Amino acid sequence: MLMDSAIGHRGVAALAPENTLAGIQKAADLGLKWIELDVTLLGDGTSVMFHDPRINRTTSGRGHLKNNTLDQLSTLDAGSWFSSDFAGEKVPTLIEALTLIKKLNLSLNLELKPNRCDLKLLVEEVVAALEAAEFSDEQLLVSSFNHKALVLFRAKSGSRIGCLFESLPRNWKHKARQVDAKTIHVNARKLKEKKALEIKDAGYELYCYTVNDKVLADQLKDWGVDGVFTDNPGVLG
Ligand code: G3P
Ligand code: MG
Repeated sequence: MLMDSAIGHRGVAALAPENTLAGIQKAADLGLKWIELDVTLLGDGTSVMFHDPRINRTTSGRGHLKNNTLDQLSTLDAGSWFSSDFAGEKVPTLIEALTLIKKLNLSLNLELKPNRCDLKLLVEEVVAALEAAEFSDEQLLVSSFNHKALVLFRAKSGSRIGCLFESLPRNWKHKARQVDAKTIHVNARKLKEKKALEIKDAGYELYCYTVNDKVLADQLKDWGVDGVFTDNPGVLG
């Protein structure tokens, strides 16, 4: 299997603030091997781990992420919104996250999350950071909902790619072939058994997000789904 049957979503988003170093550490403490994190760009071109276009939900600040420089972002608290136990947690840069992930010997599904940033620059930053970190191919898989980002990434990197879909489009095979994808990632609640079989029959590994309940996880497994992204691996039993 290319990833694992349970992949920590945004770190382990139910147990530590998403996309933070604390979340990465928590995933390792729980014994997870694979985590998924989102990467995007600040206005000054720095690559950081962040999900939303705006900073309101997961930091002490307000407004658009892209209106921040790294200096401005470093003044924000990215942990207190989740719990006072995580007060003072910062939004990590991609380089900080990769450094900790390597130190903990975790494997990473890095999701390119353009959120209207400069796609070309995002891909360049990510490729450079992954090369500098000397991330091994077996411990890395890059995915995105944004097909253009994957095409740009494939032009610069031989790393494994996963195509990420909300629900499976009619031309999914064409898209997967275009970037030489190895895996397909879809929303668990939009997947039908027939589509799962179609993906597996075509020779791709299939992963579903975001699964926080055992009944759903078991059903997906019966359909041949290889693994699920989860906020809380403990509930999967
Ligand atoms: O990569 C799987 C999942 O993270 C995709 O959705 O919105 O949580 O990034 P989202
Ligand atoms: Mg994601």
